Order: sequence, then structure tokens, then C-alpha cells
Amino acid sequence: MHDLRGRVLAGTFAHAPVRGAVEILDDALVEIDAAGAIAAVIPRDDPRHAATLSDARAAGRLERIPAGAFAIPGFVDLHIHAPQYPQLGAALDAPLEVWLHRYTFPLEARYADLAFARRAYTALVDDLLANGTTTALMFATVHTDATRLLADIAVEKGLRALIGKVAMDDPAACPPDLRDASPEAALAGTQTVIDHIFAHPDNAQRRVLPVVTPRFIPSCTDPTLEGLGALARACGCHVQTHCSESDWEHAFVLKRMGRTDAEALDGFGLVGRRTVLAHAGFLTPADMDLVRRRGAGIAHCPVSNAYFANAIFPLRSALEKGLRVGLGTDISGGPIASILDAMRMAVAASRMLEDGVDPDLPAERRGRPGSRIDWRTAFHLATAGGADALDLPVGLFMPGRRFDALVVDPHAPAGTVRLFEDLSTEEVLARSLYTASRPNIAGVYVDGRSRTTISARN
Ligand code: GUN
Ligand code: FE
Repeated sequence: MHDLRGRVLAGTFAHAPVRGAVEILDDALVEIDAAGAIAAVIPRDDPRHAATLSDARAAGRLERIPAGAFAIPGFVDLHIHAPQYPQLGAALDAPLEVWLHRYTFPLEARYADLAFARRAYTALVDDLLANGTTTALMFATVHTDATRLLADIAVEKGLRALIGKVAMDDPAACPPDLRDASPEAALAGTQTVIDHIFAHPDNAQRRVLPVVTPRFIPSCTDPTLEGLGALARACGCHVQTHCSESDWEHAFVLKRMGRTDAEALDGFGLVGRRTVLAHAGFLTPADMDLVRRRGAGIAHCPVSNAYFANAIFPLRSALEKGLRVGLGTDISGGPIASILDAMRMAVAASRMLEDGVDPDLPAERRGRPGSRIDWRTAFHLATAGGADALDLPVGLFMPGRRFDALVVDPHAPAGTVRLFEDLSTEEVLARSLYTASRPNIAGVYVDGRSRTTISARN
């Protein structure tokens, strides 16, 4: 099963079109067109099922998901710092503002060295795909050349990626070796990367997209933020930045701008339908309304938030207010490279918010009732929710969507899913999402083509 384009894939499929529920398609057929889009999804009881199956078999176009395994939509990771992969699992002992200067900026400065950049970015893109991430929204570094290289590697390896050169130009906040020389330089570098990605000869399908990427207000001057807002409007590109991540960051922006982070970003024209705000844990009710009106997305990064955010993002409130939310690892603020870990922590963090965490408080004053989400919502956020936040046609098995998917094999001997009794497909899905690891991922597809070297059982 290396190339599913023009083929009919038979077996079990599971996805989560709406928050709070999953849809299981046992013995279904998914027809993939020559360009890698889903042409038809045919459940077992559909009248077209028998004929489609026999026609595909006769034409040698039938592929089967191994019995016991199932396909789910590829994961969408809404927040990755690609250059921070070499410090994954390290440097987690300091608050955000210290962590940036002590560990993260010195690491990012090393991406002036393209050989170093190639090594790290190749490993990252390979690992994301092997972990089932098929769409990745990524910050690169301030360096134009290394950012172009990251885009080239994503194109070559077939990862669906949205990539931005980081803009950071405030001399008071950025070290001399990791800084745009001026607002003009920040804008010119951003434009250079946009042009490079759009003109890439192997990117005619635009599987890789450029992103306008002010790091966050504390690292940018006003002219840079204004210029990037205008650029985003002009090019129609996605925008990514951090918003109200921690006590320090939220307060810093309030003090400098005299208004909240979300309001200030909006004032620069940086909050629109194609914007993804990372973290956003301290949004006020008015900020949430603003983000919803603009149709912007939020990258919820529950593992990173445990280390740097000082509080738990009120996910359920945001969803109930109609905000578009997906999940992010926040490599390396979150010491994880798999969205499975983000899903698990999203559920756990929501339970901790609901019950509260301080045992000295009486139970009735300890938490925020009505905050929990379950694994079905986490699965939705990791797939359809992330796709929706990016406005990309992925994340679901539906005609017109790209066939970005992974095959999960809960029976892989080296894996970590253990099934001791006969379970429904939904129960197997739940256990897999809670306990699967990389050996359980038997195949990963973007636009219908296998993007990993691992091959499915059989
Ligand atoms: N805020 C500004 N830069 C960063 C970063 O690299 N990681 C996180 N988590 N927050 C940031
Ligand atoms: Fe981040």
C-alpha cells in the first residue's frame, strides 16, 4: 500500500466529524482519485458497495486495510517550533521568559548554520510523519535561508506543512544573533520565504504553504507588527503567533499596548480567519468574542501549558463559545512530538480544571464545573478541528477532502495497545488513542501516498 491514488481502500475507518462523537465505518470503501483526494466514501450498507468492491477487485485497484487495523485521519499539529526539536525533553526548568533567553534563543541562533539546520529539520519531518502528523503548522527561525530549507525538506518528504520565517526585531527583547536587523528586514525576509514556497517547482499543489509569523508581541516592534498585518492581508496567507500564553506574557502586552494581546494583535490586522493563536490561555471573555468573530483558530497545547502557561486553557468554554480549536505539541515547550500525547493531556488537563488541583480547598471551590472533554472531542480536535482551524480540506473521510490518513494496528506486537477481550471498534479506537505508540502506526498517507518507510502488516 504505497500509493493509494486511483485505488479503492477497503476496511475499517474512524473519524470525528463533530465534536463529542466519532463515526465508525466498518467494512467500508474509500475511493481515492488520481490526485489523492477522496472521491467517495461508501459504507457497508450503501447500495454501491458490492459493485464498487467487485469492480475495483477486477481492475486490480483494490487495497485492503489488514483485519484488526483501521484508518483514521492524519493528525494536524497546530503549533510546532521546528528548530527546537534538538532540545525536546530538555530545558523545562525555567519560566517562559527565562527559558527563551537561556536555552531557546541560543539554540535557534544555530540555524545560521545550514548543515545543522538540515540535520535537525530532516529528523523532525521524518519523525512527525512516522508519528502520524500529516499536517504541521510550524515556526522556523528568523533565518530566511534555513526557513527555505525547512520548506524544501517538507516538500521533498511529502509532509503537508505551513511554515513561517519568524519575525523578531525588537533589540530590547531579541539577542543580536537572533534578530531581524529592522522592520524592513523582517518584512523582506518574510516575503522572500513566501515567494520561495509559492515558486517551488515541486510544490505546484501547494501542499506546503507560507505563514506570516510574528513570534509574539514582546519580540516585535510596532512597525514590524503593522507591516506583517498588511502583508497578511495582501497575500492572504495564514498567520501564526503566540497570544496570552503565560502570566508574564499576558501582563507584558497589557502594559506595553494598553490592551489585551488579542486586541492588540487584531489592531495590527493579525487576527483573521487564517490566523492561529498559540496557547491563548488568558483570553478575556471579550477576547474570546473577538477571536470568534474573526474566525481565528487556537492551538491548544496542553503539555506545553503545564510547563509554561501558569494555568489551564478553558478548552470546553472556548469550544462552547464557537471558537475553532485544534491541538499542538508546541515542540519543544511541550516535550512531545506526537499528537497522541497532546490528545491525552488535553483530556487530563480538562479534568484537572474541572475538579481543581489544590487538595487544601474544599471540593466545591476547587475547580471549574463543566470543563471536561472526553477522548472523542480530543480526537476531533486532533483531526477535523485542526483542519477547520486552518481551513484545509483534510481531517475527515469525506468526498473532496485530501486522503491524509494513518493506519493504526492495535495488534502490532511491538506496540503498546493490549486488547484482552472482544471489543467494539469504538472501544478499540478509544484504547488505541489512549495507549498506542509509534509501532502501532502501520502506515501514513498524505494525498494518498505513503510517506513513511514503515509498511503495513501483511
Ligand atoms: N513565546 C515566544 N516564543 C515562544 C516559543 O518559542 N515557545 C513558546 N511556548 N512560547 C513562546
Ligand atoms: Fe510556541
